[in-house]
Amino acid sequence: MSQNESAGTVSNSQFEQLRELALAVAAKAYAPYSGFRVGAAVLLEDGRTSQGCNVENASYRLTTCAEQAAISSAVALYGPAIRIRTVVIVNLNQSACQPCGACRQTIQEFSSHDTLVCFPAEDGQMTQSTIAALLPHAFVLAE
Ligand code: THU
Repeated sequence: MSQNESAGTVSNSQFEQLRELALAVAAKAYAPYSGFRVGAAVLLEDGRTSQGCNVENASYRLTTCAEQAAISSAVALYGPAIRIRTVVIVNLNQSACQPCGACRQTIQEFSSHDTLVCFPAEDGQMTQSTIAALLPHAFVLAE
């Protein structure tokens, strides 16, 4: 896996387990409009995991991305205090799949600056970055 940011690491076995979870859930994606089936697996700081796939809608803008689905699932399963260590994103289309801007903000909500995000980049390689590198100047609600 190429790495464009020096930060925390994910072990090979953890990465493989997350990739398998993401691939399995990608096969369940509801993507009749784009045909682009995406899966995401989330590893929490306490070792628990969750999965999500994209769910499209005839009203296109109502589509839910895989990363958002995986994080919603983690909150539903484990509650509002979840903290994300790693997110692995895959697709079944052998394409690049960088997380979209909205998903970056959603990941950021439950992350530390060194939370890892792994995704297939434009060069075809799985790439590892941090949420801080992917989303500089994230929105935070001023108190
Ligand atoms: N998609 C995701 O699931 N995650 C992303 O970060 C980008 C895009 C989905 C949404 C839509 O169903 C399909 O990919 C094509 O945009």
